[in-house]
Amino acid sequence: MSVTVERRPASMRPTAGQLALAQQLADGGSRGNRGVTHVDATAYTSFERHAVEQARIFARAPLVIAPSALLPEHNMAVPHDGFGKPLLIARDAEGEAHVFLNVCRHRGTRLVEGSEPVCAPRLVCPYHAWTYALDGRLTGLPRPDSFPGLDKADFALKRLPTREAGGLIWFSFDVEEGGQADFDHADTLGHDFDAFGLAGLHLFRRRTHDVAANWKLIMDAFLESYHVQRLHAATIGPFFKDGVTSGDTIGPHRRSAVGREIDAAAVRAEDWPTLRRAITYTYQLFPGTLLIVSPDYVNLMVMMPQAHDRVLVEDFMLIPEPPATGPEGDRARAHWEKSWTLLDGGVFASEDFRAAALGQEGLQSGAVDRVTLGTLETGIRAFHDEVEARLPQADSVG
Ligand code: FES
Ligand SMILES: [Fe+2]
Repeated sequence: MSVTVERRPASMRPTAGQLALAQQLADGGSRGNRGVTHVDATAYTSFERHAVEQARIFARAPLVIAPSALLPEHNMAVPHDGFGKPLLIARDAEGEAHVFLNVCRHRGTRLVEGSEPVCAPRLVCPYHAWTYALDGRLTGLPRPDSFPGLDKADFALKRLPTREAGGLIWFSFDVEEGGQADFDHADTLGHDFDAFGLAGLHLFRRRTHDVAANWKLIMDAFLESYHVQRLHAATIGPFFKDGVTSGDTIGPHRRSAVGREIDAAAVRAEDWPTLRRAITYTYQLFPGTLLIVSPDYVNLMVMMPQAHDRVLVEDFMLIPEPPATGPEGDRARAHWEKSWTLLDGGVFASEDFRAAALGQEGLQSGAVDRVTLGTLETGIRAFHDEVEARLPQADSVG
């Protein structure tokens, strides 16, 4: 019998930070005061820069890998190959989330293949059938008499530091220095995500986009609202006021808001349903994750850089009700399907990702030595400052 993950009651109250951004929007929005700034084109086009970012950032920082909703039941696991090493995201019999290396401890083959979730209390290696529980323990092997003296406790799956908070699963490759990753910001952000009830949402769809662009070009597109009325004129542009935005930071992560008319009285009353209908909150989670909270659903995008000019972006759409089945669910499904098609296929793939891929080609042509950022784009410069602060000195000249 399957056990469904307990859906924690969401606070459904805005945090102080979310309210402050709503107040800034009601006041007409905030604007950076740094004047015109630049980012060097080589930040996007250099092969060496990509290697250094992988070593200094992605190999060290806590990374979001998936929403909790990817593993809605106990005893579930999903293989994950986007970060360069074979990984396995698992939820054990007690409901705890783990990120393991998806590598059998016998002779190293892939324990689970594919990219779809599997539901089972035990994972059996296809090679010689060593068997593991979903908490990583080796529970059995055929012909144990042929391994005299083997202690199963020494052969658990390698677990990477993992934290589940606010409906997201984070992990870190950085196990060298004592095995303790710093998940403090994941916990702080979790309070914000609890205000959206993120941990109680359900996965409607997921899709991995293969984009011929540097990963930072996609982050850039979600760090400014300057393009929204232009690039998205035919899709979501009309839903937002031009250039009215607010934002702040939580450690290296950014939190921002765009919206329509914001009622100051609703801010004072902390009228969260009204504010959520009017405001789209976006979280730019360092280094490469985006969480976009639309009024009635959420998109999580996880960036997995493959090369200086190629990134995989996994887009998850999360909805407030379980995906409906059967004919009676047709209407609900059609409703969510429409939003999925508009955002994933239209706004993201055909507009934001396409602009990023064309930008990659343009920057590689040598026509532009450095990109130029106006006062509506200061979030981009601040993000690149975070990136460059982690690079060796010579690479951080921007
Ligand atoms: S490699 Fe997995 S059981 Fe042998
Ligand atoms: Fe966009």
